[in-house]
Amino acid sequence: MATILEMRGITKRFGDVLANDRVNIKVEKGTIHSIVGENGAGKTTLMNICYGLYHADSGEIFINEEEVEIKDPSAAIKNGIGMIHQHFKLIPAMTVAENVMLGNEPRKNRFFLDIDELNGQTHQISEQYRLAVDPESLVEDISVGIRQRVEILKALYRKANLLILDEPTALLTPQESEDLFRIINRLKADGKTILFISHKLKEIMQISDRVTVMRDGKVVDTVEKKDTSEVKLARLMVGRDVLLKTAPPSKKIGEVILKAENLSAESELHHRQVLNNVSFEVRSGEVLGIAGIDGNGQTELVRALIGLQKLTKGKISLRGKDITHLHVKEMRDAGIGVIPEDRLVEGLVVNFDVQENTFLGLQRNKPFSKNGLLDWKAVASNAEQLVEKFDIRTPNITHPVRLLSGGNQQKIIVAREIFHAPDTIIATQPTRGLDIAATDFVHDELIKQRDLGKAVLLLSLSLEEIMLLSTRIAVIYKGEIVSIVNKDETTAEDLGLMMLGGTYEHIPA
Ligand SMILES: Nc1ncnc2c1ncn2[C@@H]1O[C@H](COP(=O)(O)OP(=O)(O)OP(=O)(O)O)[C@@H](O)[C@H]1O
Ligand SMILES: [Mg+2]
Repeated sequence: MATILEMRGITKRFGDVLANDRVNIKVEKGTIHSIVGENGAGKTTLMNICYGLYHADSGEIFINEEEVEIKDPSAAIKNGIGMIHQHFKLIPAMTVAENVMLGNEPRKNRFFLDIDELNGQTHQISEQYRLAVDPESLVEDISVGIRQRVEILKALYRKANLLILDEPTALLTPQESEDLFRIINRLKADGKTILFISHKLKEIMQISDRVTVMRDGKVVDTVEKKDTSEVKLARLMVGRDVLLKTAPPSKKIGEVILKAENLSAESELHHRQVLNNVSFEVRSGEVLGIAGIDGNGQTELVRALIGLQKLTKGKISLRGKDITHLHVKEMRDAGIGVIPEDRLVEGLVVNFDVQENTFLGLQRNKPFSKNGLLDWKAVASNAEQLVEKFDIRTPNITHPVRLLSGGNQQKIIVAREIFHAPDTIIATQPTRGLDIAATDFVHDELIKQRDLGKAVLLLSLSLEEIMLLSTRIAVIYKGEIVSIVNKDETTAEDLGLMMLGGTYEHIPA
């Protein structure tokens, strides 16, 4: 088999951090080659070097067995490399076709864009790989899953033979991920090569031909998919056995802490009903999981609970006290911790350093405020503690958060919100982007908080995560809670059916 890409002896240092340490990787043409490794292992750095976004301190890159210098992304594109970034770089106010062609537009004469040609070429690529994107829709109107396909289309339009996908499924629903895998397989059938990064070992085992495992900036091993397993990969990644486990049953379930009664809400734009009479209680000492397919009201529900979504009806109370109309800040003061859906928008100030982010929003609370002044000693010791406990990989606590790896950014929010929530934790996708060891750790911490008597509301698109952690499970469908069941009295199959709109009654005996 021909080697399309080889990286030899790649070393990259950021200050004191050795992000890539003499990395060797060989990628065969027409294969799906995955890279796995702990948060901060150096995966994204290596891919950025391959795409010309960073330069290696030393090492060589070969494309089709010829040494090349990739000094910037346009050199990468010339060499047939395309990269689909996790945070898409599309322009929302432009159409799909305009985004695809950006910088490469066909012209009728020197000045006028040839719109038909633009749409036609986009349509043709979309058809060829069955991407199902409409060239004429505005990017702002399409879902995350489709935006990602536009990025793929863009790379294909630029004649990419090697496509790099860095955690492409982190923001996708399980259904969208399945669609993406079908597309990836069609690309492979057409002779394209895929470099695929993910923390979800199930996916890795499903899609890859070969897997390279990284740890601490080094390649630990490259293995054939057929010779490995989820357990073996986890062991290679973290150096010990990790398997996600079902949480032990709740020890002591106490009083109702968080209560939602008949919450209803409409979307701002079209006054579509997005929440319809949503009611539930979360008690001290339990985890209430909200299961559902993305887009069934979860986002609005969390926004309502933290005072960001206007309700047309309903009441929210915390320990019996009406908190329906409080604002985010007051909610937090009232004792609610929130792990938000989008960490870069709501959870972090990326230009602030680690220690500032570990007490963000809590500056007026104990122990950070002393006689109205910020106690920097307390801030620093809190940061040191959380960094140590959550294994946040950072050179020091005054390092800017934007320089940390994606997973380590997520760990900061989780650490802060779990530890400083006196009463209630609302956790939305708490383990998104985390490696398996970090996921296991966060699961354990959430259960510890549960056993300290906090009420935990867990929203996750991963039914597996909901099943592992929840005491009770509520299924949300089209803005309604269609069922609330005890974890022990249900199965993933039943829940899956309800998530699609069926209820218990509809399941044949
Ligand atoms: N631009 C940068 N400046 C300074 N340090 C950086 C920069 N980019 C990455 N690093 C550091 O290099 C190391 C490797 O980071 P990288 O993003 O490659 O990890 P990763 O394997 O992709 O992790 P994750 O799974 O969390 O995304 C980390 O310690 C990170 O903080
Ligand atoms: Mg990364």
